[in-house]
Amino acid sequence: MSKLLCIIILYSNLCASTKIVNLNGEWIVSEDTNQYKNMKATVPGGIYSDLMNNGIIGDIFYGNNDVELKWIQNLNWVYYKNVSISSEFLNQENVNLIFEGLDTFSSIIVNGNKVGSSENMFVQYIFDIKKYLNVGINEIEVHFSSPVKVAKKLHEEQSKNYTIPPTCPPLEYNGECHVNMIRKMQSSFAWDWGPSFPSVGIWKNVYIEAYNDSVIRYVVSDVIDKDTDHWTLNVDIYMANNNKNQVTGRLKVDLETNLMNITKIIEVNGKPDENGEIMITIDMDILKGYVNSWWPNGYGASKLYNFDVTYVNEDKSDISIKKSRIGFRKIELVQEKLDLGLTFYFKVNDVPIFMKGTNEIPIDILPEKGQNKTRVKQLLIAAHASHINMIRVWGGGVYESDYFYELTSELGILIWQDFMFACAMYPTTDSYLKNVVEEVRHQVRRLYSHSSLAVFSGNNENEGALRQNWYNTAQNYSTYHEDYVKLYITTIKSEFLRITHNRGIFITSSPTNGKKSDSENYVAENPGSSLYGDVHFYNYILNPFNTNFYPTPRFSSEYGYQSLPSLQSWFTVTNNTEDTSINSIFMNHRQHHPLGNLELKALLLYFFDVPEESNKYFNEAFIYYTQIAQAFAVKIETEHYRSCRSSLEENGEGYTMGALYWQLNDVWVAPSWSSIDYLGRWKMLQYHSMEFFAPVIVTSRLKVDRILEIYLISDLPSPLMNLTISITVYNWNSCQPVNVENLTKTIESGSSQNIKTYNTDDYLSALGCGTLSSARTNCFFYLSVTKNEVKVSPDNFVFPDALKDSNITTAHVKIDDIRKISDAGVFIIEISTDQIALFVWLESLDIRGNFSENGFLMVQPKRVVFFNSEEQTSNDYLLKTITITHLLNQKYFTNE
Ligand SMILES: *[C@@H]1O[C@H](CO)[C@@H](O)[C@H](O)[C@H]1NC(C)=O
Ligand SMILES: *[C@@H]1O[C@H](CO)[C@@H](O)[C@H](O)[C@H]1NC(C)=O
Ligand SMILES: *[C@@H]1O[C@H](CO)[C@@H](O)[C@H](O)[C@H]1NC(C)=O
Ligand SMILES: *[C@@H]1O[C@H](CO)[C@@H](O)[C@H](O)[C@H]1NC(C)=O
Ligand SMILES: *[C@@H]1O[C@H](CO)[C@@H](O)[C@H](O)[C@H]1NC(C)=O
Ligand SMILES: *[C@@H]1O[C@H](CO)[C@@H](O)[C@H](O)[C@H]1NC(C)=O
Ligand SMILES: *[C@@H]1O[C@H](CO)[C@@H](O)[C@H](O)[C@H]1NC(C)=O
Ligand SMILES: *[C@@H]1O[C@H](CO)[C@@H](O)[C@H](O)[C@H]1NC(C)=O
Ligand SMILES: *[C@@H]1O[C@H](CO)[C@@H](O)[C@H](O)[C@H]1NC(C)=O
Repeated sequence: MSKLLCIIILYSNLCASTKIVNLNGEWIVSEDTNQYKNMKATVPGGIYSDLMNNGIIGDIFYGNNDVELKWIQNLNWVYYKNVSISSEFLNQENVNLIFEGLDTFSSIIVNGNKVGSSENMFVQYIFDIKKYLNVGINEIEVHFSSPVKVAKKLHEEQSKNYTIPPTCPPLEYNGECHVNMIRKMQSSFAWDWGPSFPSVGIWKNVYIEAYNDSVIRYVVSDVIDKDTDHWTLNVDIYMANNNKNQVTGRLKVDLETNLMNITKIIEVNGKPDENGEIMITIDMDILKGYVNSWWPNGYGASKLYNFDVTYVNEDKSDISIKKSRIGFRKIELVQEKLDLGLTFYFKVNDVPIFMKGTNEIPIDILPEKGQNKTRVKQLLIAAHASHINMIRVWGGGVYESDYFYELTSELGILIWQDFMFACAMYPTTDSYLKNVVEEVRHQVRRLYSHSSLAVFSGNNENEGALRQNWYNTAQNYSTYHEDYVKLYITTIKSEFLRITHNRGIFITSSPTNGKKSDSENYVAENPGSSLYGDVHFYNYILNPFNTNFYPTPRFSSEYGYQSLPSLQSWFTVTNNTEDTSINSIFMNHRQHHPLGNLELKALLLYFFDVPEESNKYFNEAFIYYTQIAQAFAVKIETEHYRSCRSSLEENGEGYTMGALYWQLNDVWVAPSWSSIDYLGRWKMLQYHSMEFFAPVIVTSRLKVDRILEIYLISDLPSPLMNLTISITVYNWNSCQPVNVENLTKTIESGSSQNIKTYNTDDYLSALGCGTLSSARTNCFFYLSVTKNEVKVSPDNFVFPDALKDSNITTAHVKIDDIRKISDAGVFIIEISTDQIALFVWLESLDIRGNFSENGFLMVQPKRVVFFNSEEQTSNDYLLKTITITHLLNQKYFTNE
């Protein structure tokens, strides 16, 4: 066969390729002593979904089901399926049963023969089953053991030597113990934002593959900036065959570019190793002129090019294809010496980039539901709309679905990928480490090529936990330290660097001091130092509306405040109105963060007069107020970090180059740090993040001596000239400004600049706002940036005093009209007010959708907002069901 002919045949699928029998879909599940038997099951899936679908249990998210359904976790469950196999299929030389994900401990039986077992949720299991299959019907069984019991048993064994803490989570979590002993989603035994549902099941695709010669298992591609004219595409192709037969054939790589396809063909002739695996490397130089560079969100298009790798064996009877898309970009993590400390920032294509982003917890507490593309897409599209260019996939969850990483690559959202170890010490027995190596191999080979992947981190907070003795490890520090190095450095980092040819970016923990931690035997004296690496910063005691108490780290990778989800979301988990009170037993049950509800109350008191508990709108108002406090506090903290990108203080702090707030999403309806609740509803924080992460912002710092500094900040790659910064002062009693001061400024690319400083009291009292001590209660600042009368940043504001101490005139805010303006379901909402109104908040009670802005200040009597409806609806229906409120809504403060 000529080469041309084979390629034609190959692409018209006439050549024989790897054959697949898909085992997804309907299975049968039974409890192993037949208390529950022969129930229909769905694969991919899990036991909680199956029990719900069979009506054995109700909605796991309802009421107290998180504790009432604990019987499920102690049982063992067996999944069964019959599959018909043809003689043609079985004739192939290699026949494998492949589970992309088994959660977690199982034995796999084919026609009565045990073919293997699983012990790690994050590993892909491949079992050679050729000799166990028959032509005709075959029975496959997967026997799952209770993960809670296995974890306990492993803990008992380990404790004969020494204990690996923490043994149990705080009581408030209502969680399970010893999750650190097993390789399963660490938060499936509960977390401070989530319930315990230690699922078992086949949570990803399962199928049988058959082929004669060899298959391509993984294609790991890496883009290298070779010289000014060329990229090098380094491609490692991992091939496998069970019989360890010589692999002799042809590999073809095909890259689409702007001009033409670049193709390279190489002959393969090699012998697989003892695992039946062989790796072939192909390098291709690509002229930079042929491709556009890939850029993060906000810096240019995130262009991806189709890239196919095809294997054809010697007699052309067998082919295997892997398709992917790759982007051309260079990513660096820069840790360079400063007078004090080291920098810590990312450069993409040589441009230093301030990372604006968030932390992602698992998409769902049930891992199979986290594979839902609609859910992934809703979250990532929302993040993209907020100008987010980095998401940290947090180490207590799961390595997310292929789709998650494909979409982040498409949207220009870089990924900070933790390995799945969080808030614990971990074992280092030989079998445990062997298990971890399998996990690292599979996950790094699966994920590394995605253009969005920027950095891998060994764990979440374990460097700090060890150094600061969170789990009473101090007495035996050297043992735990040795374990730490063995796991994250000798095992994970080594394997990661081997796979990535020492090119991958790896930090050991988050937070960490980076290179400084490495030089201190991987556990720094102070892992939370502001002079090195990243920090996680939380404080629920001090006034969050005061910019002065926030640290000025190089990179803030976690910070945040809690709030409550909306009433509509609460009513999916209770039908009792009393449960929605912050003082209810139910709300206390759902709050896993110790003292969390008290902290929420205390937070509000810094700023607001909270309605009386006897007020009939108290629950609704309290929820709304927590969302204001969360949005406002995270906004102030984020703007603080952004304002510190260009300067170094005398104590060496500064050059802050990242702000990833905690947390994007939720896994149930509960008090939490999320900006989007479990039902997908946006909290006020989500709306505000679209503004505080905007490319150009104007913001302020109110210093302790009441000196007000105004900052202009730009993330844009080129300077902006001749901007008009309008600094308007309003008295709370009028929509007519007291004063407007216009400044003309130029802002350099990627910089933060102090453009004006005021003595607040002098300035406001001179404008007639009142005496030196009362002026700040009567007036506030309103900031906007325009160029040739066109806005280039969201408007901002400065409250010179706490709102509860300010002399605010009560507003009356209402919706005047709602009209559909496009067939795509966009409605215009006309709003009016008779006074300046604060945190004006719209909610669509019935129809799902999002507003163009929400939680905003109204300084003018009229404003329009757009509503993007996700469902069919009418003007009249929306007029009836969309509600509007604001900070000093009279109904919260009168008792009628
Ligand atoms: C598989 O087939 C066998 C024999 O027909 C039958 O006994 C068994 O119930 C079937 N199992 C499933 C899961 O359908
Ligand atoms: C695979 O090999 C078997 C025998 O080893 C042969 O019968 C079969 O035709 C081969 N399949 C293809 C597609 O070449
Ligand atoms: C017990 O722990 C020590 C480290 O303290 C380790 O060297 C040894 O291998 C462990 N023994 C067993 C049986 O796990
Ligand atoms: C070019 O490459 C792409 C992807 O690599 C492939 O799908 C396409 O068929 C190729 N086009 C030609 C003309 O070979
Ligand atoms: C995926 O999520 C969407 C949005 O929540 C939901 O409507 C849909 O039913 C889910 N799909 C599956 C297969 O569960
Ligand atoms: C809602 O409340 C009623 C009684 O108030 C109760 O009978 C019912 O079971 C509740 N609904 C659900 C889904 O639990
Ligand atoms: C900025 O303003 C100055 C003075 O009005 C003018 O000469 C210059 O062309 C302007 N530059 C830009 C880029 O608009
Ligand atoms: C509060 O505002 C009102 C007007 O809205 C004004 O008359 C009054 O003097 C202000 N109070 C103080 C203490 O400045
Ligand atoms: C200030 O600038 C804004 C925006 O360019 C403009 O509309 C306004 O007229 C200016 N006001 C004054 C007092 O110059």
